[in-house]
Order: sequence, then structure tokens, then C-alpha cells
Amino acid sequence: MTTHTIHPHHDHAHGEERACMSRRSFLLAGGALVTLAALPGSAAAAALKALKVDYPAVKIGKLSALKKGMPLEFAYPYPDVSNMLVKLGVEAGSGVGEGNDIVAFNQQCPHMGGPLQGTYKDKHQALGPCPLHLTTFDLTRHGMVISGHSTESLPQIVLEVRGDDIYAVGVQGLIYGYSSNLAGRRA
Ligand code: FES
Repeated sequence: MTTHTIHPHHDHAHGEERACMSRRSFLLAGGALVTLAALPGSAAAAALKALKVDYPAVKIGKLSALKKGMPLEFAYPYPDVSNMLVKLGVEAGSGVGEGNDIVAFNQQCPHMGGPLQGTYKDKHQALGPCPLHLTTFDLTRHGMVISGHSTESLPQIVLEVRGDDIYAVGVQGLIYGYSSNLAGRRA
């Protein structure tokens, strides 16, 4: 599968955006995500909004250039954090675009940091299996685990569409290797 790398240009330096959300808070947030499937749609959407961590907006792609099943790689919210943007072709949780089918996810497995680059399966709209312990994640349902060792969902990158441009504006979930998404450095 073909992937392309985008080098984002931050609107602001991320050093300005330190805040205080503990690992425990993020772990609790991860647990909450698992229970969201049981909530009515509007309640789940409200709860997910509450879990979102905002970052400076970064342009990561264009609607007109995105092809179904062809992921684009981009770094966000920091240069060493690899993510993928993909048009799934089916409606997805927090999806953007006309069909609500464009989503983005972190590419480090939340179990032990296994690299998920190049593992997207368009037939199932899934990322994985992770090369370390085979966890696979459902990209239509906020990165929930389909199977494997991970107990946490894959962090989802929050997207916004402005005209033809797609922006990353936040992260839902704790990025592997960070004590806090907002710390701006590895744990
Ligand atoms: S590191 Fe991915 S399943 Fe263990």
C-alpha cells in the first residue's frame, strides 16, 4: 500500500501549551472510551468531546487529494509522533468529510509501542495486526480493539475540515511513551 509523508507546519510552538492532565486522567479516559459503546449516540458524542485534548491546528491534507483506502502519514502533535490519515469509505466515529468517513489515528500501539505503519487493512477499516503481539484496531469505532493484547484503544487524532483543507486539532487518548500528551516529551 502506498503511503506519503506530510511535514506539518504548526501554527504555534507546542512549548506554549503545557497543561496539567495526569496519566491517571488519561487512563480513566481510556476506560471511559470502552464504555461509550453502551451510551446513546448523543451521550457518547458529548462524552468523547469531554475527553478531547486540544493542540494548535495543523493542516495535514486536502479533501480533494485523499483517495479511499490510501493512507497519508503525518506527524502530530510532535515531530516524533507518527499518525495516519485515511478515507475509510464508510461512516466512522468522529469521521469528517461529506461521508463522515475520514479519520486519523496514532500509529504506535498503546500496548507496548509496536509500530503500526503500513498495516492498514482497507477491507476491514482496521489498523494492524501489530507486529509485536498482534493487536488490531477498528478505525470506524474510535480505534477500539478488535483482537489482541492491548487493553486500550488507539489514540484518535481529532480532525476539522475548513474548505478543502483537513486540519488536526487534538488527540483523544494517551500517546504511547508519554506520561501526558501535554507534557511535550517522552515519559
Ligand atoms: S505492542 Fe502491539 S500488541 Fe503489544
